[in-house]
Amino acid sequence: MSITTKRVPLVGREANHKFNAEALERVARDVEIPPVPSVVLELNEMLQGSASIGEIAKLLERDAFVSGLCLKLINSVRYGLRAHCDSILHAASMLGVRKLGIVASEACLLKSYADLSGPPDVNVFDVQKHGVVTAIVARQLAMHVRLPANVDDSMVATCALFHDVGRVALYATFHDRYVELTYTSPLAGASLVSAEIDNYGFHHGDVSALIVERWGLGPRVSQTLSEHHKEMNTGDFTLADVINVADDIVHRYKSYGISGIMNTLLNLPPEFLSIAREDLPPFAQSLASAIFKECTQ
Ligand SMILES: [Fe+2]
Ligand SMILES: [Fe+2]
Repeated sequence: MSITTKRVPLVGREANHKFNAEALERVARDVEIPPVPSVVLELNEMLQGSASIGEIAKLLERDAFVSGLCLKLINSVRYGLRAHCDSILHAASMLGVRKLGIVASEACLLKSYADLSGPPDVNVFDVQKHGVVTAIVARQLAMHVRLPANVDDSMVATCALFHDVGRVALYATFHDRYVELTYTSPLAGASLVSAEIDNYGFHHGDVSALIVERWGLGPRVSQTLSEHHKEMNTGDFTLADVINVADDIVHRYKSYGISGIMNTLLNLPPEFLSIAREDLPPFAQSLASAIFKECTQ
């Protein structure tokens, strides 16, 4: 199948919409953001202090739901651990406390919305799965993009993982009205981001940004999430661009398979990836295999 459609170009309102205090204030006023679980607050304090792995493990084990979910996530294919982790302490020693902290935030987020069943694409489990697959692709892309030196693999994964959580909060707040917006805006020819800005004055990336800021994942993660649908600035690439491209690849793979991935790669500015054009097909194949593996585990 040949695909010639380019991704909806991020121009106009999306391009001009900046991460700013005003957008975040509007989000804080209009969207129901889940309260920060005490375990996340305590964990953040511990990660900034000199807590031992044992103390951190003990904190997480106080919440059976969270620690069980952490172990499930840690033993999933994405971490590729050779040995099965059967305790948080074991997981902490295998992954390190920083990665464990991210997994714990992910588990807490799933817990916060566990009772909120929702239609496809806006319920927390679909959004989390989408985040995981986007993280797998983003990490592979990031290896071939010249990014600022302070962006490491863990930050790439964290941003990808949480980039769309704002969609769950929007559904939790506006219910069917948000679902209608989600399902009708592409049919009306406008992007979801445009529709969100028109309706709310902010988009789901801003909501994701406020959630992760409150949860203590740091201002750089927050800014990246707010910008993950921003127009790419040729020659000066950011982590938000990597997340944006990874997101596009995941969606296109879902609709068109490997040719969808190739379509995205061929439409990127040539200087975005340090991969020769003739090496793009095997790269697309490796991305397709990784997505397939994660989706079918
Ligand atoms: Fe998004
Ligand atoms: Fe996404």
